[in-house]
Amino acid sequence: MGKNAIDFKREHSIVSSSVGQTSSDVVTRKKPKPIKCMNIFKLALAALPTIVFGVFTIVFTLQQGAAARATREQDQRQADVTNRRILFKEYMDDMRDLLLDENFEQNINKSLLQIRVQTLTVLMYLDPARKRDVFIFLYESRLIRHDHTPNIDIRGADFSGMKLIQTSTQSCEFPFLHLPGVYLENTTFDGCTLIDAVFENSSMAGSKFILSDLLRANFQNTNVTKAQFHDDQLYQTKFTGAYLVQSIIHGGVVQNMDLTNVDLYQCIIGDELLNPIVYLGFKPNILMNTRIPNGSFSNINSQNLILSDQAETECHLNFTSHWRDVKNNDPMKIIHFQANVPANVSQVGDDCFFIIDKDLTSYQHISVQNFSHMIDLKLAMFNLSAWFGLKNPNDMDSLLATIHFSPNRNSIDVASSIFKFDTVPATFSCQYHSGEDKIYSAIAGVYCV
Ligand SMILES: *[C@@H]1O[C@H](CO)[C@@H](O)[C@H](O)[C@H]1NC(C)=O
Ligand SMILES: *[C@@H]1O[C@H](CO)[C@@H](O)[C@H](O)[C@H]1NC(C)=O
Ligand SMILES: *[C@@H]1O[C@H](CO)[C@@H](O)[C@H](O)[C@H]1NC(C)=O
Ligand SMILES: *[C@@H]1O[C@H](CO)[C@@H](O)[C@H](O)[C@H]1NC(C)=O
Ligand SMILES: *[C@@H]1O[C@H](CO)[C@@H](O)[C@H](O)[C@H]1NC(C)=O
Ligand SMILES: *[C@@H]1O[C@H](CO)[C@@H](O)[C@H](O)[C@H]1NC(C)=O
Ligand SMILES: *[C@@H]1O[C@H](CO)[C@@H](O)[C@H](O)[C@H]1NC(C)=O
Ligand SMILES: *[C@@H]1O[C@H](CO)[C@@H](O)[C@H](O)[C@H]1NC(C)=O
Ligand SMILES: *[C@@H]1O[C@H](CO)[C@@H](O)[C@H](O)[C@H]1NC(C)=O
Repeated sequence: MGKNAIDFKREHSIVSSSVGQTSSDVVTRKKPKPIKCMNIFKLALAALPTIVFGVFTIVFTLQQGAAARATREQDQRQADVTNRRILFKEYMDDMRDLLLDENFEQNINKSLLQIRVQTLTVLMYLDPARKRDVFIFLYESRLIRHDHTPNIDIRGADFSGMKLIQTSTQSCEFPFLHLPGVYLENTTFDGCTLIDAVFENSSMAGSKFILSDLLRANFQNTNVTKAQFHDDQLYQTKFTGAYLVQSIIHGGVVQNMDLTNVDLYQCIIGDELLNPIVYLGFKPNILMNTRIPNGSFSNINSQNLILSDQAETECHLNFTSHWRDVKNNDPMKIIHFQANVPANVSQVGDDCFFIIDKDLTSYQHISVQNFSHMIDLKLAMFNLSAWFGLKNPNDMDSLLATIHFSPNRNSIDVASSIFKFDTVPATFSCQYHSGEDKIYSAIAGVYCV
């Protein structure tokens, strides 16, 4: 063996390793068929490019697919950008034509309506950077400043995500800004002047106010959930009815703010907000029906909400200021006790009074809007108490008092309670737990039966 075997092995080294034959096997078989091995070798070689090609094709196809998708997305983005640019340009052209139209003043109501409709529409398609351009355009055109007329009705406009930042080249001055009832979520105001700005009823969750002047700004009934106020001037800022849940108020001036009926649940605030250090001439914050960060209410207003008109303060008047006759909507006549009082009228305890006769219902509206968070959380109850005198103490008159509840002053009743006073003079007291949501208005009526 020796040499021969070695030669053979060398000659077919690739084949033998590829088919798994040992040199001794080959030697034992004496003359193996190298040609067969060559065939396998060829086959393997011939197959290889096909497989490689196959893999290559697949990879290539995959890569091509991804590339095509990326290109499509890129094209789509480009198209969106182009569309937005076109929309924005068309909007600005239309606005210019409208504002420069010589009949603008004459057709003011129609023009303002058109500006409103086009603005609301275009804002739906624009990105935050262009929304900001629209915002600045409207402000500069004095259409959203409450110290100038005319104003457009901007309610419902979506300015969410704008970033208004003062830089060395760009100012951020928006005094008397008028943006009630708009969407301003996740909007940033950094270094801005927003003195006397009105954001009433706006949705402003996640917004940031940094180093901004919000002197006397109006955030009434806004949703400022998860908002941030850092180092702002908040003197006399009005938050009545606002949701400040989970927001942060840090640093700055926090004095003389109106926090009536504000929800500060889980709000991160400094001690100075609830217990401000009162400097000379400065006033503390107004806390009434305020829900403080730990969830409890502070300073609940327990004053009488029905204005009695029994005249301690209004005895000089001849007619009631708060009670009205339901039929004619006239105020009630006040009778001055000292003056001409019939002897058969029982004394009602005060210097003057008004009479509720048969067939006459007198009523008054009561707003409980300042208790709205308490009502929504079903934590509010009312205590109705009354004192009635009787014209003729010997009569067996009785009296009905009703309270009708409604979401607001002009909407229909959603609930009512009736209380009967069988014995008069009577002092009556009852409690009512509102089971319904969003009841902020009531009418109290009193009549004889
Ligand atoms: C526009 O509408 C207001 C009331 O909404 C009206 O007082 C005023 O006269 C109207 N102006 C014109 C020019 O029609
Ligand atoms: C505001 O930001 C929050 C949190 O990043 C997000 O969940 C929300 O959708 C954003 N709102 C709008 C109107 O963009
Ligand atoms: C805010 O909403 C209330 C209740 O819907 C409404 O009476 C009030 O006029 C609104 N304020 C503004 C400035 O639009
Ligand atoms: C305030 O806005 C946030 C975000 O839009 C919303 O999830 C939340 O329900 C709103 N809160 C109220 C009380 O409307
Ligand atoms: C919340 O805090 C107030 C004042 O700090 C405290 O009087 C009240 O008991 C607390 N309420 C709860 C539920 O912890
Ligand atoms: C009330 O009526 C008296 C007598 O009729 C009259 O002198 C007085 O001026 C009236 N007062 C008011 C505030 O109208
Ligand atoms: C009270 O007295 C007047 C006259 O003195 C009389 O006209 C009136 O009917 C009496 N009213 C009642 C309720 O008795
Ligand atoms: C609600 O509270 C505000 C601020 O304290 C006050 O000015 C307003 O008169 C109150 N409204 C009612 C209806 O009591
Ligand atoms: C309801 O009001 C009356 C009169 O002010 C008072 O005597 C009574 O204690 C009150 N009831 C409650 C539960 O506060």
